[in-house]
Amino acid sequence: MKAVVCTALGEPPQLTVMEWPSRPPGTGEIRVALHAGGVNFGDLLVTAGRYQVKLTPPFVLGTEGAGVVTACGVGVTRFKEGDRVLVQNNDVRACFADEVTLPAARAVLVPPGIRLTDIAGFPLNFGTSYYALAVRARLAQGEVLAVHGASGGVGLAAVKLGKMMGATVIATGSDDAKLRAVKTEGADYVVNVRTEPLAKRIRELTQGRGADVSFDPVGGDVFDAAMRSTAIDGRILVVGFAGGRIPAAPANKVLFGALSVIGAPYGGFTQRNPEPWAELMRTLLEQVRCGVLKPLIHRRFTFEQAPEALALVRERQVIGKCVLMSARGMAET
Ligand SMILES: NC(=O)c1ccc[n+]([C@@H]2O[C@H](COP(=O)([O-])OP(=O)(O)OC[C@H]3O[C@@H](n4cnc5c(N)ncnc54)[C@H](OP(=O)(O)O)[C@@H]3O)[C@@H](O)[C@H]2O)c1
Repeated sequence: MKAVVCTALGEPPQLTVMEWPSRPPGTGEIRVALHAGGVNFGDLLVTAGRYQVKLTPPFVLGTEGAGVVTACGVGVTRFKEGDRVLVQNNDVRACFADEVTLPAARAVLVPPGIRLTDIAGFPLNFGTSYYALAVRARLAQGEVLAVHGASGGVGLAAVKLGKMMGATVIATGSDDAKLRAVKTEGADYVVNVRTEPLAKRIRELTQGRGADVSFDPVGGDVFDAAMRSTAIDGRILVVGFAGGRIPAAPANKVLFGALSVIGAPYGGFTQRNPEPWAELMRTLLEQVRCGVLKPLIHRRFTFEQAPEALALVRERQVIGKCVLMSARGMAET
């Protein structure tokens, strides 16, 4: 099979499209002919050697994708050949390829009417943001949600999910054009962190209270501002550190602000809880099927264009998500 293989770590890494051995499914596994895989910020970290789990080249990149089941191993009862599935493979990755073999527990059925290439970049971003907002922070209808890094993969998903859950959404970022797109996608207010004082502006928009929930995939100065712009009794979701600096939460502010600083480790959640993960995915896919959630695909690439797709993420040029398509995916579009 054809695969996008990282042959040397780096920034940028060396990526080569090459033949890679296909593997029959073992007990409890399925093999999936992939139509497309989602490109993630995590792919930059993995290929730079900066991810928490270190992979040694050569390895096939790609954490998530969508395709059709072509073989089932012993003991697999949930799927059969021909089923359309969404997959997320945090430990092994290997989704930028014509096919992937993985535990059946890391797949869910895609409802009819949803194109596989449209949904391939869905599990990681929407799964992370829903896990953070619904499971970890218990965002309630009528609350104010501040989403930082709102034009990015998890940020834009959080904006859409926040609206779906009945919150007022303040979206922040550092680029006016991207923020305009985020507003079009549903945010109630946008704040440019480069040109406006972030914490002050969020307080103004909330009549001095601050946000009930702050969703932070950026860290650094943005997290510091979230500490100053989250309401008393509010929750700050620690999602990631796209800005590079891992911040520290001052305990005095946590104490006197009655703040909850909450981690949202979605990868760990999916590994420890395969059945709740599948249930969470099914809930979200149903919202896609009935048109409530519409994932935004920024651009579709071929395998050969993988370096270009990763460069766009590195240069912060992406609004929503990029996907890499196999020949099957290209035939579908
Ligand atoms: N907790 C989890 O399980 C989980 C799951 C997925 C991802 N993550 C983490 O969440 C973070 C965001 O992931 P993503 O997929 O949303 O990434 P992304 O699509 O690249 O978006 C990141 C956003 O952060 C903003 N940003 C601010 N400073 C930045 C900087 N120095 N470099 C890059 N972006 C910067 C950018 O918005 P502006 O350009 O408008 O500033 C960008 O839109 C990453 O740290 C990722 O590892 C965590």
